[in-house]
Amino acid sequence: MKQIAEIGNWQLPLEVNREEETLKKDIIDAYSLLNDSHSDMIYFFLRLIQEREGFYGDYWRVYKITEILARNFNFSSEEMLELKLGALLRDIGKYSIPADIWEKSGKLTREEYDYVKKHPLQGYEIVKDYVNDNVSKLILCHHEFFNGKGYPLGLKAHDIPLGARIIGLADMYNALRSKRPYRGAFSRDEALEIMNSEKGMKLDPYILEEFWPLVGLVERELADFKMDNL
Ligand SMILES: [Fe+2]
Repeated sequence: MKQIAEIGNWQLPLEVNREEETLKKDIIDAYSLLNDSHSDMIYFFLRLIQEREGFYGDYWRVYKITEILARNFNFSSEEMLELKLGALLRDIGKYSIPADIWEKSGKLTREEYDYVKKHPLQGYEIVKDYVNDNVSKLILCHHEFFNGKGYPLGLKAHDIPLGARIIGLADMYNALRSKRPYRGAFSRDEALEIMNSEKGMKLDPYILEEFWPLVGLVERELADFKMDNL
């Protein structure tokens, strides 16, 4: 059932089955971080995401996982909002990816994957004039790996902003639990095993330890966000 969040003069369609009120509040809170003159532009970006994908799916799931995990850290209320906005806008740079790569049903070639890997930098370039430095750095760094082998900068360990390490973990869990054109969704246990193998590699060991006890809550919270069912 399509829900509508009214934000000022905007009507934002939300295709979710529960927690509509929570989501509406989250959106409004996240928008409060923005300079008024720029908030229309962010709304435009989010509408583009929905028009292209038909559903906020991935964006909302990573947003919710990020929020749940971030509660275990000592973020201020403003930092939490920055984190949520970063999670929501992290893949905005994918709009620069050519349609033939975006829509490809098979596995990407190395050259195509190299193109996809540009999206954090392209996202940063798109939003840096509309959000503060903290948010734009989260978008820039959400695919940096703890071992320094991520992209686009190859930052290592604590040189990567904490929020970007949290978003990166949330992004990975969602990706593993979601169906992709070239594979089915991994089960919860399979996803956790894969993530454990990335401890200290792609993932921050400390954040991963914080995540384990939250997996049940994450699964329950995301039950109506079409996880396993993209
Ligand atoms: Fe990404």
